[in-house]
Amino acid sequence: MRITFFASKKYDIDSFNSIKGQYPELELEYWETELSPKTASYVTDSEAICAFVSSDVSRETLRVLHDRGVKLVLMRCAGFNNVDLEAATEYGIKVMRVPGYSPEAVAEHAIALAMAVNRHLHKAYIRVRENNFSLQGLEGMNFYGKTAGIIGTGKIGAAMARICRGFGMKVIGYDMYHNPDLDFMEYVELDELLAKSDLISLHCPLLDSTHHMINLETIGKMKDGVILINTSRGGLIKTEDLIAGIRDHKFAGVGLDVYEEEAGNVFENREDEILMHSTTSRLLSFPNVIVTSHQGFFSREALEAIGQTTLDNAMAFLKNEKSSTELN
Ligand code: NAI
Repeated sequence: MRITFFASKKYDIDSFNSIKGQYPELELEYWETELSPKTASYVTDSEAICAFVSSDVSRETLRVLHDRGVKLVLMRCAGFNNVDLEAATEYGIKVMRVPGYSPEAVAEHAIALAMAVNRHLHKAYIRVRENNFSLQGLEGMNFYGKTAGIIGTGKIGAAMARICRGFGMKVIGYDMYHNPDLDFMEYVELDELLAKSDLISLHCPLLDSTHHMINLETIGKMKDGVILINTSRGGLIKTEDLIAGIRDHKFAGVGLDVYEEEAGNVFENREDEILMHSTTSRLLSFPNVIVTSHQGFFSREALEAIGQTTLDNAMAFLKNEKSSTELN
């Protein structure tokens, strides 16, 4: 079976090529272009395509893919809020993903952001390079003894909870499902988590019910001087309201690996140019905000796991085997 990869970067190609020998039944074809209704129409002789979190897997794209004979969409990522699953099912296209390929990769990036904004490492780095050894404005707080609030305690949230516990923090969580592995963590209602936490980290998926869950009202319930981290999805935070909160000096620091405007834009041009979008560039203007370019997943171990599971998914489809990674 031939699989056409969209939005292939060098690191994707290296990672998939390093294991493709284990899958002689699969032929991999890498395209740099991002998936869209237009680029979908260029697919020939591929029963499967491989897409990413930034790809346009809308009804229109799926319709075109269906016309081109595609029967399988392999998402080489965990999130799938960019996929119209209903349309895929209608067109008889199976969608598979890579759930939980390396929760630690994302959780470690989340704590890196938290530590960097807390101790102002981004400012310190630039200062010292300019031969300025002043400590003015670099004061942070100890995480030890403080309260970490984890919103969404699935695989990544659980990894983040364990890291925070290792720092000697009190860890509280909010989720409808209580993770039995986290016996050290106390589950509380969202309002209580917002009111008690010194560090809040978002780890729930983007759904209708979670869209803009961080807004003026919920920000108002947070402690003054809180640190807010989002490595989950940009749409969880209403950016305008976050900017208002930052202006109000609500936050000691904000660390964002994801932001509302990224979908299909920043990624597409990641290697060509750095695109500044209006609200993201406004966020970047605040000295206590660090933004990274959706790199939480980007560790060696995670890339290996993504490659392996994606090609295992293709094999499960070929052999008509049921898999827990199917989305429809
Ligand atoms: P998961 O499915 O293991 O856990 C998500 C948890 O969120 C579940 O326990 C679920 O019950 C909970 N949840 C759902 N609605 C909620 C709500 N309204 N309030 C509180 N909790 C709620 O997912 P996993 O693997 O932990 O991933 C979490 C998110 O991380 C993904 O949805 C994705 O958006 C993001 N992600 C980001 C990456 C990055 O590179 N920055 C890479 C991979 C995932």
